[in-house]
Amino acid sequence: MILIKKSFGVLRVSEDLSLLINGSRLVPAYRTLEDIVPVLYDVDSVRDLPRSTVIYSMYRGFSLEGHSTIFKNKRARFDITVMADINLGKELNKTLGHYHPLAEDSLSYPELYQVLYGEATYLLQKKVGGDILDFAVAKVKEGEAILIPPGYGHVTVNSGRSLLVMANLVSDSFQSLYDDYIKNRGAAYYLLTDGSMVPNPCYKSHPAPRVLSKKFPISKDLYSDFTSCPSCFDFLNRPSLVASRFS
Ligand SMILES: [Fe+2]
Repeated sequence: MILIKKSFGVLRVSEDLSLLINGSRLVPAYRTLEDIVPVLYDVDSVRDLPRSTVIYSMYRGFSLEGHSTIFKNKRARFDITVMADINLGKELNKTLGHYHPLAEDSLSYPELYQVLYGEATYLLQKKVGGDILDFAVAKVKEGEAILIPPGYGHVTVNSGRSLLVMANLVSDSFQSLYDDYIKNRGAAYYLLTDGSMVPNPCYKSHPAPRVLSKKFPISKDLYSDFTSCPSCFDFLNRPSLVASRFS
């Protein structure tokens, strides 16, 4: 059991990826090994792991009772994800990966992530036509946050050798786009358990991965920062407000 104290309450996270906030159990959506098989580096390397293994749990749309109107009015959603401390064969545990649709002009919706426990490595890629124009790797430690800029798809890797608990804040006005990641068997690079990055042969271009060290400034925590200044996060639905700042 892991205990995490945040502005929005006390989180109790168990090894089975269940989550209680202020004593109330949240209802998750699960991703199992079966779901993630299409994007794995080496499917044969997970043959001993049951396909029903839950590799991460998603708790979408959390808010305290007094704050639900703020989220609704600002068309924003606060989610928490708990990722298991397991390897997927030769790879570290990771999410399926997705892009976001366009929000305005040619800019897609951005997203904010804050690591609440453990360490995450975010694999970001910008794809135009069939080409990967940029591939960025962001290591994010407990308490830190990053912005997924407009135009980037993303995969989260649990790189901390522990459970990973992270929060994200995003527009509630779209559905994530998974098809391109599934069609291409994952991101343009795979992050393996030994820390190496292997190009995915399904892509025709592989720009050298660059380190993205820039963090998104957090005052208290993502939830508190949003609820105390909701208009500061208008860029979640209007990406032109941040496109130049974080490109
Ligand atoms: Fe996303």
